[in-house]
Amino acid sequence: MSDFEITALVLAEHEIFRRDFAALDDLSGEDLAAAWEALHARLEVHAVAEEQLFYPLLAQEADGEEETAEGVHDHNEIRHAAAAVGEQELGSDAWWEAVRNARQVNADHMAEEETDFFPPFKDAVDDEQREALGMRWLAFHDEHEEAEGLSGADAKVAEVVAIEVPEGDPTV
Ligand SMILES: [Fe+2]
Ligand SMILES: [Fe+2]
Repeated sequence: MSDFEITALVLAEHEIFRRDFAALDDLSGEDLAAAWEALHARLEVHAVAEEQLFYPLLAQEADGEEETAEGVHDHNEIRHAAAAVGEQELGSDAWWEAVRNARQVNADHMAEEETDFFPPFKDAVDDEQREALGMRWLAFHDEHEEAEGLSGADAKVAEVVAIEVPEGDPTV
């Protein structure tokens, strides 16, 4: 299986999130502000990419409507937790508490995706399609660097479940 299979790419980004949250602890001032801003943007790109490429198929192909509803609910919780960081003074105790909360809800969610959602998805969506989705995942990240063009608004379960994910590799 190639490195561009979509769940491998999602997992790789989860590992980056784990590392980047941990790295915040060693930063302060402008470096801390910039690192948090970049991490916040990447969390949004990751969430929307999953909502467009992973969760619709989990619902439609893997009988995973409940799991999709749970995943989208988690994404909105992560959005709120990350937005709450911006309401605190950078580097203050309250700011760090808000970051720890965002880190925790994100960590719980990533673990659930990896443990409970990837296996049924991989059973239901064949290798070829998962690789094509991986190419779409990469293209989405190129298009929305630093969350450009993404609103950060809550996702709606019914809309995610209804998305028609295009088939095939977008690059061929
Ligand atoms: Fe997610
Ligand atoms: Fe994820």
